[in-house]
Amino acid sequence: MHHQQTRPGFKSKFGAIAALAGSAVGLGNIWKFPYIAGTNGGGAFLLVYIFFTIAIGFPVMLAEFSLGRHSQQNALGTFRVLAPGTSWLLFGLLSILSATLILSFYGTVSGWTLEYIWLSLTNSFKGQNAEDINTIFNNFISHPYKAVLWQSGFMILTGAIIMGGVQKGIERYSKIMMPLLFLIIIALSINSLTLSGAAAGLKFLFRPAFTCLTADGVLAALGQAFFSLSVGMGILLTYASYIPRNDSLPHISLKVILTDTLVAILAGMAILPAVFSFQINPQAGPGLVFLTLPTVFQNLPAGEIWAVLFFILLTFAALTSAISLLEVPVAYLVEEKKMKRPAATLLATSVITFIGSFNTLSFGPLRNVHIGGMNVFEACDYLCSNILLPLGGILICIFSGWYLDKSILFNEISNNGILKIRFFKLYIFILKYIAPVCILLILLHAVGVI
Ligand code: PHE
Repeated sequence: MHHQQTRPGFKSKFGAIAALAGSAVGLGNIWKFPYIAGTNGGGAFLLVYIFFTIAIGFPVMLAEFSLGRHSQQNALGTFRVLAPGTSWLLFGLLSILSATLILSFYGTVSGWTLEYIWLSLTNSFKGQNAEDINTIFNNFISHPYKAVLWQSGFMILTGAIIMGGVQKGIERYSKIMMPLLFLIIIALSINSLTLSGAAAGLKFLFRPAFTCLTADGVLAALGQAFFSLSVGMGILLTYASYIPRNDSLPHISLKVILTDTLVAILAGMAILPAVFSFQINPQAGPGLVFLTLPTVFQNLPAGEIWAVLFFILLTFAALTSAISLLEVPVAYLVEEKKMKRPAATLLATSVITFIGSFNTLSFGPLRNVHIGGMNVFEACDYLCSNILLPLGGILICIFSGWYLDKSILFNEISNNGILKIRFFKLYIFILKYIAPVCILLILLHAVGVI
């Protein structure tokens, strides 16, 4: 079975990589990675994280790419075409649900970044010490509605880009935002390295202190690797259906993975030295980025400019990921439910913003609502990152390693035999056995069975 390119996709290989790297590089790298590494022992976490990225993230990513480009479909359509009439369709639906849920809490933190652009523009951190900045953050996130307004603003931006479609929306904006993001994160980390006490931060990030790494830390590393690479929830499937037929999928995956890991490490280098230099607790949790960087910036010459730049870039990182999340339900509504793109975008955006407001308010009016000892936001993040994404990853492995005709994978990975593929047997072995078993063990730990 050989499908021809049936619909317009990305115009260029650079556009495809920018969009995919745009999806991968996001709040996960800049906001989440430093605090998760911070709470899980720094260097040891980094090693385990890199191991999972290469050993499990890469094979699963490549499988998702192959499925999506082969089927030329959205996350549900892929299974309708490749496994007609089976319960694999439910998996398609599950991915759409995961993407929707992730965007609902992703929008919360993205909204915070917009507020922080505003605070930086109005020079609100001037002369404040670390404690004041802590108070600014806590007052803001616990405000009864401000954060919801910013979240809605962010969702409107996301919807506006998605309405533009694959080439005029996703590709165009990723090509502008990604290179800028890269430049600034490099500048920021160089800048952090010049702070006094920076070495302690580097040591924390790069020196593997295995005694600090618990089983929970290992679970967090896998969850983080999946989250950061955007695997396991239909995003890569959907975007891959837009990748031109003659581009090499292994090549694109490697580039995306390299960029993603590099940005996570750079973010660690931009943030952790500053954390140590200003004696902020590296375990500050989701607020870490919003506490450290404003503290650093207002001690620098022209700090307000750095601050504005940083939060604009954080917004870019968030936007290029948010559009990839929103594209999953939108492509589904357009292709499966035959809605027009604007209507589908409007519907998906409104539903996600509505669900998302509960996440946002869980730091304020809803702060006493707890699920399993976590607030709504934390519970939603935990459910997505530590359960739904690994589950999605296992199902991708089982589907492509066991169910699917291997020639489909081979033809996609090798572009119908044109590219030389040396490790195909090893690849299938990892996909069939190693990756699903590793993920399963970790998943069982997440739900408390082992
Ligand atoms: N990978 C993105 C990040 O690191 C987040 C994301 C997760 C985007 C899942 C799409 C899908 O921030």
